Amino acid sequence: MARMVADQNLLRVHSLLVRVTHWINVLAILMMVTSGWRIYNASPIFNFRFPAGITLGGWLAGALQWHFAAMWLLALNGLVYLLGGFVSGHFRRDLLPVTRAALADDLKDALTFHLRHQVGVYNSLQRVAYLGVVADLCVLVLSGLAIWKPVQFQEIAWLLGGYEGARIVHFVAMSLLVAFVAMHVLMVLLVPRTLLAIITGRARVPPAPVPGSPLQPRNLPAPPPTESGDAL
Ligand code: HEM
Repeated sequence: MARMVADQNLLRVHSLLVRVTHWINVLAILMMVTSGWRIYNASPIFNFRFPAGITLGGWLAGALQWHFAAMWLLALNGLVYLLGGFVSGHFRRDLLPVTRAALADDLKDALTFHLRHQVGVYNSLQRVAYLGVVADLCVLVLSGLAIWKPVQFQEIAWLLGGYEGARIVHFVAMSLLVAFVAMHVLMVLLVPRTLLAIITGRARVPPAPVPGSPLQPRNLPAPPPTESGDAL
């Protein structure tokens, strides 16, 4: 993920592919979730409805149209992200591995408010959260297919416990996604410089410490290789 750009102390943090698919994904998810709430309101599974003011579509038919339109955006954009991530080695390099020891260390640091964020490197909690939300989105798409076309996708519907089971799985996966987004945005507010990096792809890092100086950063990995080309 992180490559030193020839100029100054700029790190190339996020590839163009990650940035473009990330923001298209945000737009698609916003449309899917808010129109989904409107569709849910027409036939609630639980004993509550979402406030109409935070839903999209105006009425059931309008919400369905938004949901189906955004579905293509989400699915195609997700495929581009997944294919690009595998082919470029982004997943292998930046989201893996997640070891139990590193996860335990990072969790301990987070619980004692000592978790450090190093620009260009995801900590274990971020890795688990990002891999988890990608898996959650796959469950959302699969359960959505089972609800949309329960006859054509009857194998998926069967796996999820039939049409009603698929609706509950879809709802639970949506709730997990919303919980992820709330936590994710909170983290961005706590470390706001990450926001600029996911937009521009670059981040400024502090100058390298003077050799022999007592002010050496602790536990930082070796500086990333210098590269001026645009990574995928
Ligand atoms: C709406 C649903 C969202 C989802 C599913 C999502 C998912 C993700 C994922 C999977 C990554 C890692 C990308 C990768 O390297 O492959 C990421 C990174 C990031 N996202 Fe989001 N995101 C969402 C919304 C947002 C929003 C609204 C913001 C800004 C307020 C945001 C800011 C960021 C930032 C700053 C990073 C990079 C974090 C870092 O460098 O440490 N995301 N997001």
